[in-house]
This record gives sequence, C-alpha cells and structure tokens, in this order.
Amino acid sequence: MEATAAAGPNIAFVKYWGNRDDHLRLPANGSISLTLDPLETRVHVRFDAALPTDQVLVQGAEAPPATAARLTAHLDLVRELAGLHMPARVETQSNFPQGAGLASSAAVFAALTTAAAAAAGLHLDPRALSRLARRGSGSACRSVFGGYVEWYAGEDDATSFAEPLASAEHWQLSDLIAIVEAEHKAVGSSTGHALAPTSPLQAARVADAPRRLRECRSAILERDFERLAWIAELDSHMMHAVMLTSTPPLLYWTPATIAVIRTVHQARQNGIAVFCTIDAGPNVHCLCPAESADTVEHMLGQTPGVQRILRCQPGGPARLL
Ligand code: PMV
Repeated sequence: MEATAAAGPNIAFVKYWGNRDDHLRLPANGSISLTLDPLETRVHVRFDAALPTDQVLVQGAEAPPATAARLTAHLDLVRELAGLHMPARVETQSNFPQGAGLASSAAVFAALTTAAAAAAGLHLDPRALSRLARRGSGSACRSVFGGYVEWYAGEDDATSFAEPLASAEHWQLSDLIAIVEAEHKAVGSSTGHALAPTSPLQAARVADAPRRLRECRSAILERDFERLAWIAELDSHMMHAVMLTSTPPLLYWTPATIAVIRTVHQARQNGIAVFCTIDAGPNVHCLCPAESADTVEHMLGQTPGVQRILRCQPGGPARLL
C-alpha cells in the first residue's frame, strides 16, 4: 500500500485567481499553463494501519502544522474514495524553492494525488486525477498533464478539470525564472483567492477571460510567440492589478521584480523575443524561444537583485516512479 510519484510545477499564461467555490476549488475563470521540467516534487505515500496517525515530512523534516493539515485533508479525500480507514506516512521532496510563487503546491498536490491514489489501489483515469488534484490546489489539476495544458473552469466538481492542449514537444519555449527572493511568501495563494472578489477589477478580469483564453490557445497552437507574449503579459498584469486593489491589498512585487520586468521590456525593444509573467510571489518567469535562452539568461544575470536563475523547459505529466 505504497507508491511514489513525481510532478513538475507549471507556469500559467492565463491565470487562475479567485474561486467560485472555495471548498471545491472551482475557479472564477479557466486557465492555460505550461508544465515545467526539470523542477519537480517527488511524493512517497504509504498507508499503514500500524501508524498512530498521519505523518507528513517535507524535505526530510516534520511538516509545519498548517502544511500537514492541508496534506492530510487531501489524503482524506483519497481515503473516502477508496473506502480506506488507515493513517498514512507522506514524504515530499522538491528540487526548487517552496512557497515563493513558483507553483510549488501544484507540483506537490499533482504528485501527492497520483501517489496516494495508486497506494490506495484506486485506478483513476487522468481526468479523475486532475479533478482530485484540483481539490488540493487548483493549479495542481494542470500539473497532472505535461506540456501546454488548459483547465476548464466548469460548473461543478465533475466538470472542472484540465486537459492537454499541446504536447511538450509541440513548442520548445524556455522559462528562465529570475529568483529575486527565495523565502516563503507572506500570503499564500489560498488566502489570495479569497480576497479576489473584494477587488472592483476582478469582475472585469473574469468577464474578459474567454477572450484571453481564445487568444492564448491559438497563439500556442500556431506557435505565435508575439501573440502569446502580448496576451500572457496582459493577463499577468491584470491579475496583479486585482491583487493590488483587493481589501486588504496584496503586493508581491519587490524593487527587483520591477527591475526584471524592465530588463524584459528593454530586451524586447532591442528585438529579442521574450515576455514575463509573475505568479503569487516576487519572482519573474521570463519566457523565450529556446534558441534565445542564453542571451536572455545573460541579461537577467546582470539585472540588480537577481539572485539566481532557474532554467526550465516544457515538461511531462505527473508519473508514478
Ligand atoms: O493553485 P494555487 O491555489 O496555488 O493558485 C495558483 C495561482 C497562480 O499561480 C497565481 C496562478 C495560476 O494559475 O497558477
């Protein structure tokens, strides 16, 4: 009754921000992302009747109570589906900074869902895994799949899931993540989603989402970099505008975040194909065609405040090891 699975984080080009239903994690709008490699989280799950209670280890150490509670609640969903009444031991290991707006929860919950379902003897198809992963962390439903992925907002638990839009091989983009702060962020995305409806801009962002999704979908399918750059940067700025105008306001950016945005815009003015997008943290994802990755990495390395650059490429689906 044990299994290990691995999953990569993802970067959204049309982002998920705000829920229609916080408990079921039904999103206010659909989203599109790219699953990343070589960043990954490995999760080992062992159901064991001899354990006194659930045990959760993160990076080799006992998990903080809030993290343990969130992972245990997710195990409860798996136990309920499998009709299992047994504690479990969960160990997660990630090869990248956690909680710094790098979609670490997407990788954790995609891997946890895949491992726990297998360990519990459930035979779930990818759609059912995606729906279940969504309950742990919305963006995790996208990390169940590799390459370019779309999450349909849906209307209820059964209709809100992700599906592949194009394979990882379809388009060789590089994601250079400029790390300007690797510490744990102050406000996690679950709290952030709950604040989204307090912004007067959220309704406009959600109403315009079908158009951005359409643009993003065709930009990816046609490998139209300029169009993807335009729509992804617009979408990221719209989400951060919602964050800034929530009550209380959320400001994830630091001066170094802005310095990186300026570097990217300057590069584009100089004819280099690159755009940026930022999740719920200060670090900046800079996307470019794989052939310009060296040039972009060099420019980012010279930007004040950039501590480290993580170089990623399109990655595969969550998998059992
Ligand atoms: O899945 P969550 O609850 O960690 O939310 C992810 C939110 C963003 O990363 C900001 C956007 C997205 O679509 O990934």
